[in-house]
Amino acid sequence: MKFFVDTADINDIKDLAATGLLDGVTTNPSLVAKSGRNFVELIKEICTVVDGPVSAEVASVDYETMLEEGKYLATLAPNVAVKVPLTEAGLKVCKYLSGKGTMVNVTLCFSSAQALLAAKAGATFVSPFVGRLDDIGQDGMGLIEEICHMYQAQPDLKTQVLVASVRHPRHVVDAAKMGAHVATCPPAIIRQLFGHPLTDKGLAQFVADWAKTGQKILK
Ligand code: G3P
Repeated sequence: MKFFVDTADINDIKDLAATGLLDGVTTNPSLVAKSGRNFVELIKEICTVVDGPVSAEVASVDYETMLEEGKYLATLAPNVAVKVPLTEAGLKVCKYLSGKGTMVNVTLCFSSAQALLAAKAGATFVSPFVGRLDDIGQDGMGLIEEICHMYQAQPDLKTQVLVASVRHPRHVVDAAKMGAHVATCPPAIIRQLFGHPLTDKGLAQFVADWAKTGQKILK
């Protein structure tokens, strides 16, 4: 499974890219607003840091303007994935851009029917929002499971399931077990994946015991 980071913070992106474990980046208008950065300059910079797909979201909701925005965003770097909302207009844009060879991430997916349409529109990625479904008492991971099964039953559909709105490491592990292709996580969740209290405790013990030996591995 691929790991994307869901942020517009360039320092977090650089830091996580340095681990060698980062496969891509997703941004959205809320994250860009939080960053205070110029959107186009930011996307160009992210695309120099990360080789994998970098999602850049259109801002308009009508077909014509969305299409022009999408075409423009696609010129910023070869690894831009144009992000469009899961609306009729968004899927029309998706169909057009994917037909031209542009990567498209269809976002704000909350149902399997929507995911089926995104795949038929040629989306590279579909982004079901698990946390926001959980927030309203629905089953976010249940949706991921159904979409994964649905795509597996229809091998002609090539869209990758990109699990978004991730709230905790369990979402990531469960998504991997279900066969989801990608999880996009806030930086804090990716860092949480590394940790376990017993790892910290065990390491502290090893460090203390090693000191008792008085030895050094490197001269
Ligand atoms: O970027 C899309 C999605 O991951 C947003 O998540 O945390 O705002 O629900 P969240």
